[in-house]
Amino acid sequence: MDISTGMAAGTMPAMAASAGAGDCRITVPETGRFSTHRVQAIQHNFDRHPMLQLPQLAELAKVLSTTGQCRFISKGITQDAAFEHQGADPSGRAIDEVFRRIEEPGSWIALYNVETHPPYRQLLEEITATVRPLVDREEPGMFNVGGFIFISAPPSVTPFHIDRENNFWLQIRGRKVMSVWDPTDTVAVSDVDREQFIVNASLDNVRLKDGVRARAHEFDVGPGDGVYFPSTSPHMTRCETEWVRPGDGVSISIGVVFYTDVTRRMARLHVLNHLLRRFGLTPSAPGSHPGLDAFKAPLANGLVWLKKTLRGYVRAGI
Ligand SMILES: [Fe+2]
Repeated sequence: MDISTGMAAGTMPAMAASAGAGDCRITVPETGRFSTHRVQAIQHNFDRHPMLQLPQLAELAKVLSTTGQCRFISKGITQDAAFEHQGADPSGRAIDEVFRRIEEPGSWIALYNVETHPPYRQLLEEITATVRPLVDREEPGMFNVGGFIFISAPPSVTPFHIDRENNFWLQIRGRKVMSVWDPTDTVAVSDVDREQFIVNASLDNVRLKDGVRARAHEFDVGPGDGVYFPSTSPHMTRCETEWVRPGDGVSISIGVVFYTDVTRRMARLHVLNHLLRRFGLTPSAPGSHPGLDAFKAPLANGLVWLKKTLRGYVRAGI
């Protein structure tokens, strides 16, 4: 349920009673109202997909651990902490042991860039194929589809942060509360701090501030629930111990992320704004003045081309 809007899961379209892997899909309530620019609840049945079950994810983790794509955070981290993660379990456990003891309170492991393993790249293609026509209406040119899988046992959190990509975030197992702020919320994250993240990949000033919790959309999600949120929407999650039912102490979520022609255009406008700021100007945020964006876009494209050509500038999605 989206606590903030009162949209109950019961208002969503019903799923088939049973579904094979090929029948899994994301379902968007009121497709006519879906917008890639808006935070909103979605539904899905990928919780039934065999490749997203715990034993299969343990095998995937072994593959990804060889390239540092299994990420860990310290136990006891809070939502207002920096989102810092490491390439090894803080208590020194090997991947096998991490999964054997995954139900222990406070366990947390994330599998980054699962698209680098071809079977999961295929799965991500299958997932995005179910929503691509909806996305294409406003944001054609979907590219660099990626997947991030979060496995944890309460009490656990994912700290407040922003990402570069649009995200279809799906709860696969267990319960979680996902808090998401609008991508235009400059109280939660200022224009300058969004720009610093897009241009310099810095989250230094992106922190949960006092008094902004009430501005978030809160989604209390279980298997089959999900949230769509656009690039640079601040978000964080929490799982509470009292929600655990016997035999169901592990939470699994997947963020299916992607760029589009629109996210690239916005990112390039951030690069131009960053330069304009160095000349003492206060440029308008990308998206806030479409006419101005249209004027600035060719300049932004040229600037990014120069930075890439002359300085080897590389940022994902730009
Ligand atoms: Fe994220």
